Amino acid sequence: MDLLVIGGGGREHAVVKALKKNKSVEKIWCLPGNGGIARDAECVPIKATDLESIVAFATEHRPDFAVVTPDDPLCLGLVDRLEEIGVPCFGPTKNAAILEGSKVFSKQLMEKYNIPTAAARTFTDPAAALAYLQTCDYPTVVKADGLALGKGALIVGSFEEAKDAVENMMVKKIFGESGSRILVEEFLTGPEVSVLSFTDGSTVVPMVSSMDHKRAGDGDKGLNTGGMGTVAPNPYYTPEIADVCMKTIFRPTIEAMKKEGRPFRGCLYFGLMLTPKGPKVIEYNCRFGDPETQVVLPLLSSDLLTVMQACRAGTLREDMVKFETGAACCVVMASDGYPQKYDTGYEITLPETGEGEEIYIAGAKVSDGKLLTAGGRVLGAVGKAETLEKAVERAYALAERIEFGNAYMRRDIGQRALAALK
Ligand SMILES: Nc1ncnc2c1ncn2[C@@H]1O[C@H](COP(=O)(O)OP(=O)(O)O)[C@@H](O)[C@H]1O
Ligand SMILES: [Mg+2]
Repeated sequence: MDLLVIGGGGREHAVVKALKKNKSVEKIWCLPGNGGIARDAECVPIKATDLESIVAFATEHRPDFAVVTPDDPLCLGLVDRLEEIGVPCFGPTKNAAILEGSKVFSKQLMEKYNIPTAAARTFTDPAAALAYLQTCDYPTVVKADGLALGKGALIVGSFEEAKDAVENMMVKKIFGESGSRILVEEFLTGPEVSVLSFTDGSTVVPMVSSMDHKRAGDGDKGLNTGGMGTVAPNPYYTPEIADVCMKTIFRPTIEAMKKEGRPFRGCLYFGLMLTPKGPKVIEYNCRFGDPETQVVLPLLSSDLLTVMQACRAGTLREDMVKFETGAACCVVMASDGYPQKYDTGYEITLPETGEGEEIYIAGAKVSDGKLLTAGGRVLGAVGKAETLEKAVERAYALAERIEFGNAYMRRDIGQRALAALK
């Protein structure tokens, strides 16, 4: 089989490596991929949002199956376009990807179907938003409706901060049309858990839970990033809580989307907060999360391609998706300065990987046969072991063997989870 994978980050490298384990896979094209993924797939420099060029490429090369992972091509309808020309895809169609593409849509869906989430109000008029923000309790949360590169949700501590947020989103439109509508949302507290799931539109099978580390610095200090590391499973996510989530969140969401005429097929990501009043949805993502994928897929013992094909075909069963019992930790190695200004172009020296080790490349390019840093997040060093403690040790031991100029990593990935286990 010939496969097409759309995207070019650490997540896509993890997906490509997992797909390659299937013996029937002969070729994988990755668009655009990156210099690291190029070791495992044929990378073609076509942007993930360039739908016309992707469709033209697929028309010419006729892949047997395509996997679309990033949010923007999904929300733009790439799956619809590829299916139209007869390429079966893993990933939601445009009318289902709206679950991530519009936070107002997903909030209204959750309210309509009684799926637990933060109480919220929607505004299309800045003056009305400000009038309401003068009366509400702080902290509160202001969110842009549409995609905003993970920068569209702000926890504001006072009316002044809220006013700035409204100005930026609705008047200055720093996120473009994504901020024409906003949500003002109740501030929730409790540990956060990410649960990715496979779904064929009717059946939903959760993957092993995970915990992200979004802030740039140790102790969860510093700026928000795309993610500095992850661990799986998330120790806060007990089997009892998993049961509650299945009954009150996962199945109801899939049912709701079906009833709305927007059956969701692909990977649905549930961003949850375990509040004192039970688990609630913080957000949905219509795809694998990065870097969550880098700890979840290494623990998947079933064949990824088979599961993805079942999601597409509507034949997914719970017993098709199995995970190892151990734990995994991903330490993101970034360019120092990320997420702000940073230098790139340094040569990356990669060690041989052994048992329980994986390296997923996110920001690198090949130049004169050398692998050079080319992004903020450069790679994920992943360790897998029987216990979380050993997985964390293994990930850091691997990271120590990886070299490139200007490297930066957090030193405390997994510590919060380990503390929770005690
Ligand atoms: N209602 C809320 N209460 C408390 N924290 C929140 C709330 N909504 C979002 N957050 C925090 O902000 C982060 C980003 O919000 P999210 O809705 O996931 O937006 P996005 O990932 O699209 O930026 C969450 O991971 C969570 O830490
Ligand atoms: Mg989020």
